[in-house]
Parts: sequence; structure tokens; C-alpha cells
Amino acid sequence: MTWDERQEVRRIYLDNAATSWPKPETVYAASDAYLRQCGAPAGRSAYRDAVEAERSVDEVRRRIASLLGCDDARRIIFTLNGTDALNLAIHGLLAQHDHVVTTDAEHNSVLRPLRFLEETAGVQVTRVGCDASGRVSPDAVAAELRPDTKLVAVTHASNVTGTLQPIAAIAQALQGHPALFLVDAAQTVGHLPLSVRQLQADLLAAPGHKGLLGPLGTGILYVGPRADAQLHSVRQGGTGTESQQDRQPDTLPQRFEAGNLNVPGIVALGAGVDYLVQRGVEAIRQHELSLVERLSVGLGAIEQVTVYGPADVSQRVGLVSITANGHDSQQLAAALDSGYRIQVRAGLHCAPRMHQRLGTMQTGGTVRFSVGPFNDLNQIDMVITAVQQIVTAG
Ligand SMILES: Cc1ncc(COP(=O)(O)O)c(C=O)c1O
Repeated sequence: MTWDERQEVRRIYLDNAATSWPKPETVYAASDAYLRQCGAPAGRSAYRDAVEAERSVDEVRRRIASLLGCDDARRIIFTLNGTDALNLAIHGLLAQHDHVVTTDAEHNSVLRPLRFLEETAGVQVTRVGCDASGRVSPDAVAAELRPDTKLVAVTHASNVTGTLQPIAAIAQALQGHPALFLVDAAQTVGHLPLSVRQLQADLLAAPGHKGLLGPLGTGILYVGPRADAQLHSVRQGGTGTESQQDRQPDTLPQRFEAGNLNVPGIVALGAGVDYLVQRGVEAIRQHELSLVERLSVGLGAIEQVTVYGPADVSQRVGLVSITANGHDSQQLAAALDSGYRIQVRAGLHCAPRMHQRLGTMQTGGTVRFSVGPFNDLNQIDMVITAVQQIVTAG
């Protein structure tokens, strides 16, 4: 079957926490137009189309900065995805024997770089637990701070339970301490209004391909003034600037952007951001909240189903994880796809410590339904009916 033929079959896509789909039409069009009509590299050559490519990249950088409440667009670094942004933040900052505080709610893209540095560079990592709803306590984070703590890394929202973490309160608890604050905003950027100033984040990592509605292969790292002074590049190479030197330029964003940029991805990401601004991130937040409320209440009413995460939906992002008594999570997800073409993700969602906390390691993890701006209540009702039919059929 070709991709075109597959579109003919009704599909309910609820894997937006992995990557968003569909994208706004303008996202597809932006990549297509760049590839057909421009196709030149950004930041390297002086002919007209190359200058135009550079101008387009800078414009997207400005629009993302504005969306995140950052007044200096050079602080937005383009990366390959959220993981790449987190690796830059973690590897670019930490040196031998540094101390880090993080949490059990983190994704492997925080946990694994930290484990790697623990094993190879003697970095000391303190992992703070969370409560049964997936929430981390600001006091518990503050209690683990040491005078030499270099970094505190916390996810803005769990990609397993959807729990929003009290980021502003954690930042408040760090006031006066020299540790830098890294926020993993993979599940929040584009889904709810946020500003780096209000979150008091020194570093904020996010994919471009989830809530920002760009294509896979895009991501960003915000580097705040305190972090800028300490963050090293982890990849060096051509930037099209200061080419007489064989040393990486110290300027932003070139210090962190070696090699040709993903211009077709970045211009499409810009179209995604434009869509968010036009529709309004707050309006999208309200839409996703209405979907997730219906979903969590509907699924929770099924006798065999356990819903994880906070009962108060205002404390979660647009995702719901469940287990169903007597049903392996992978099999339930497979039955939803084969029987109903409902596409969800099952398993550990790259966040093993959260599953240890929830006791869902033994059930093969959870089945996660994650909504986006283009889902509707009708789809949610079909999903609830499908889960009901599968679990009652045994
Ligand atoms: C909380 C969290 N952090 C980081 C990532 C990694 O993002 P990416 O898939 O863009 O590498 C994800 C992706 O699912 C995530 O949910």
C-alpha cells in the first residue's frame, strides 16, 4: 500500500506525544516551496537564494524566541530533536564529578546522558522521586541541593502520566543557588502558553516536531544568559562565520550550530509556529483539555481500566495513560490499530523510572493516548467505545 492509499482508510492518530500529526497544510507547503524554489544552504554563501535561506532561518528563530518570551533570538539554537537539545545541555555543561539533581519523571533523553556521565566521568546524580500522580515536590528537589550542585534537570510534563510539574515553584526553590535549571519542555511547548522568563529556566529543550507542529528532525535549545557563560559546544565544525579560524566561534548561535542546518525542516517548523500563533496556544490548550477530560473520564469509567496521572485534568497535558486488567499493553494497542485504526503507543515510553514508580513495569508499561490540535471529541468517543469493546470481549 502506498502512503496515498493508506490515507483513504480512516485513521485516528493519538500518538502526538511521540510526534504530532497531521501538520497544518502550510507546514507541508513551506518545506515543498523551499526545496523546489530555493534549496540553497543558510549562512554560507552570498548569492540571492542563499541569503534568502539565511533570512528564512533567522525569521523562524525570531518567531520561536517570541513564542517562548525570549527577547534575544540568538539564544534559540536549532537541534535535531528534543534529545539532541538535551544532550547539548547536559554534555555541554557537566564536567568530571559535578553534581546533578534530576527526577524519576524524566525521559531517557535526560536519564541516559546522565547515566553515561555517571559511569564515564564520575558525575554524581541524585534522582528525586515523585508521588503516585507523577508529581515532583519542589521541597524534595530543594532538599537534594548541595553547594556544588551544577545542574537541576526537570521535565515540564511527564510523557507517561501527563503530569505538569511545578516548574515555577522548583525555580523559586533554586533562587540564590548557582545551579543551572534545565527544563525539558518536550510535552509542553506549543501545547500551553509558556515563557522562559516565567519558568526561570536557564536552559529549555524542546522538539520541533511535537507541539510546535514542525517535521521530524527539528528541535530547539534555549540558552539563557547564565547558561551561556558556562555551556560548551559538543559538536564543532563549519558555521560560515569566522572561517579564518580553526576554533569554533564563541558567538551565539554559531557556537552550537556546526554544519549545514536542516533548512527544509526549519522553514516548515516556522509555518507550524505561525499556525500556533494564529490559532492561539491558549485556545489549543483549552481544546486539548476538553479532549483529555472526556478521554480520562470515559476510559476511567470502564471497569477493567486504570487511568494514571492527576485526576484534575488542569494538572496534566493532553495525554492519558492506562492499563486494562487482563490485557497486555502492547496487545491492547495492537487491537486498537488492527480493529479500529486507532494509533496509540504502548510500552514504557522511554521513561522506565516512572513505570517503576507506578508499578506498571509488569504490565508491559501503559497504553498512552495523546491528543493534538486536530483531534476532536467525536474521535475521542470512538476511542472510548473501542477500548470498552476490546476489554469486555476479554
Ligand atoms: C519528556 C520528553 N523528553 C524528551 C523527549 C525526546 O524528544 P525527541 O523525540 O524529539 O528526541 C521526549 C519524546 O518523546 C519526551 O516525551
